[in-house]
Amino acid sequence: MAQETSREVGPVVLLGPPGAGKGTQAKRIMERYGIPQVSTGDLLRENVDRGTELGLAAKAVMARGQLVSDDEVCEMVRERLVEPDCKRGYILDGFPRTAAQAEWLDRLLEHELFDNSRPTRAWPIVIRLDVDYNQLLLRITGRRSCPTCGRIYNVHLQPPRVDELCDVDGTKLVTRNDDRLEVLQPRLTAYQEQTRPVSDYYQRAGRLISINGDLPMDDVTEQIFRILEDHHA
Ligand code: AP5
Repeated sequence: MAQETSREVGPVVLLGPPGAGKGTQAKRIMERYGIPQVSTGDLLRENVDRGTELGLAAKAVMARGQLVSDDEVCEMVRERLVEPDCKRGYILDGFPRTAAQAEWLDRLLEHELFDNSRPTRAWPIVIRLDVDYNQLLLRITGRRSCPTCGRIYNVHLQPPRVDELCDVDGTKLVTRNDDRLEVLQPRLTAYQEQTRPVSDYYQRAGRLISINGDLPMDDVTEQIFRILEDHHA
């Protein structure tokens, strides 16, 4: 399925509620098109683990299921997108998450990251994964990940071969701190109240593509690859 291609695809934005499958699909796009996954959740968790100033500020906010401030997240994203591996494109996973972040990203693309030789690739392809609420619950409460290789599992939907151990390297799988049931509701509320306007923003600009994220993983991937191929055919 994720056979690599050298086709240029440019920036991709994956939108969708917590547990929609953004990280799962971002990794598959990364494998096929050779462009990096830029996950703001992962970058923030790395900062928390390293005990940076940003990580210290973000830790409690994330544990409550709320959003980290726009200024802090935007600066972190800017630093990442100017790195050389993003030149051919990148997959934004979990960003933008507020209307202010979406407007900021457009300004960044239009000015700082604008590449004269590739004007048609200035705007990202924006894909939203729509998933039913009960499916989201199963996906989030069942999610486990490997702290060594980053592979994502789900004890209900995609279990490892040996209970709680990574298929690739045998490391004991971990549960994310904010996947606890009591944090789920605030995360979903943050999505409804603060991230829905991002969809409206791209919809108004005629740049939003919604897909059915309820389908099995491979079917979701197929829909995404088709969109990416059509865009650059
Ligand atoms: P972040 O890490 O971005 O979390 P999220 O958006 O809540 O998304 P998730 O990682 O929970 O889900 P996902 O859509 O990636 O699903 P996955 O592929 O893992 O953010 C965490 C926190 O950081 C935020 O709450 C906030 O505090 C902060 N933050 C991050 N970005 C920010 C920003 N821009 N601004 C401000 N604050 C920010 O899949 C989930 C599970 O489902 C897995 O077990 C997987 O195996 C399974 N699964 C996936 N697809 C399928 C399928 N099709 N069928 C069956 N199972 C599936």
